Amino acid sequence: MLSLLQFCILFLPHSGHAETIFEDFETGTFTNWQVSGDAFGNAPAQGNVGRQTGVRGYAGKGSANSFHADDNGQGKMVSRAFKITTKYISFLIGGGAHQGKTCMDLVVGGDSVRTAVGRKSNTFHQQLWDVAEFKDKEAHLEIIDSFSGGWGFIMVDHIVFSDDKKVEVPEAQPPAGKERPLFVSGIQVPEGFKIEVFADENQVTNPTAICLDENGSLYAAETHRFRIQGGADNRENVFWLIEACEQRKEAQVAEALKTYRAKEENLISAFLVSLSGGDRKTGELVFEKHGAAQCMQCHKVLGKGGDAGPELSGVGQKSREYLLRSLVEPAAELSPGFSTINLRLKDESVQTGLFLGEDDTHVFLHIGKEKEQISKENIEERSTPTSAMPSMAGILSKREMRDLIEFLSSLKAKQK
Ligand code: HEC
Repeated sequence: MLSLLQFCILFLPHSGHAETIFEDFETGTFTNWQVSGDAFGNAPAQGNVGRQTGVRGYAGKGSANSFHADDNGQGKMVSRAFKITTKYISFLIGGGAHQGKTCMDLVVGGDSVRTAVGRKSNTFHQQLWDVAEFKDKEAHLEIIDSFSGGWGFIMVDHIVFSDDKKVEVPEAQPPAGKERPLFVSGIQVPEGFKIEVFADENQVTNPTAICLDENGSLYAAETHRFRIQGGADNRENVFWLIEACEQRKEAQVAEALKTYRAKEENLISAFLVSLSGGDRKTGELVFEKHGAAQCMQCHKVLGKGGDAGPELSGVGQKSREYLLRSLVEPAAELSPGFSTINLRLKDESVQTGLFLGEDDTHVFLHIGKEKEQISKENIEERSTPTSAMPSMAGILSKREMRDLIEFLSSLKAKQK
């Protein structure tokens, strides 16, 4: 038979130590709250929000998190009203430590009677308010983010009304696959095929090349050149890709290359890939030693070389685009004094010389050692000035062109 004492021990502890979960943010909605501003989003957060990393110590899956517009976002969550019936309110809190600005307040009779802030941390910590003195009073909670500087956010979870100081908190359940997204589910494959994750590497975020070797190993390469201070961002430079394609024997690759080539409308655009990057030393060798190009036959650099063309010691002051045009379509960029012109005069004689320029009435040229000016009235017919410089388009490869332009760009001697 149970004694009265035994009866009390068995049943009384429960009635005396109530514990109610007021909010655990597990329903996927903010039903208990009036939400304003852009900071808290439209629904409870699941782990990290946006750029956040390392949020931990929340309970279950959901929590309130005001990082939706980074530190900048501001907003407020006002809970439904409740009557205080227990001795304590326990909760988890994290984020900024700005008093009155990144905080949760207990409001009784219009006054904020308790307030709590984060500890400048992405880890939630548990906190306890003794609210015995407000027993039977009407109250509500306010979660506030009115700060936009560093640590300008607040996180709250698992709010429990309890008579016991000790409140158990369930473990965090980070969202599966959210921190390291696997995009496989979005990829459509033809019937009969399936798609599986073969390797998962979230460090490579911007791959520039990917290939499988004969053993089935996968290689992914990325370049961080664009992050280097002062380094040129050459990711748009498809040079390496074209060269690699040229080495391949597969029909599909050849076809793709053909399509790409068809888009190269003119010589200049075909060589656009040679505009960035390149190796100065190799370019210097092309300039001095290339058997077919023979640059030094006609050009001087710092005192060495021929003089059929202009001296190039300061040519690096010109843009790479200008240099490319000079090399590929020499006639389009004529340097005065180095292009030849033929003039047939009304008396049927022909004058050939270096074209120096013209004005309204005269054409100026260099014939032999003499400077001549010929009246336009006497000219029957004239050729367009042509460059003595051969186009290098058929002579140099894109790689040689690229190295050469890099070398020419480095020639910055002051022009006299
Ligand atoms: C047969 C002689 C000859 C050869 C070989 C030659 N050039 Fe020229 N080059 C000229 C002449 C003449 C001009 C001036 C007329 C013109 O602008 O087309 C010129 C112009 C240039 C210009 C423009 C200079 C300026 O200030 O506008 C550059 C740059 C240049 N050459 C680079 C080279 C390079 C690099 C090579 C070797 C790959 C080379 N040339 C080979 C004769 C030659």
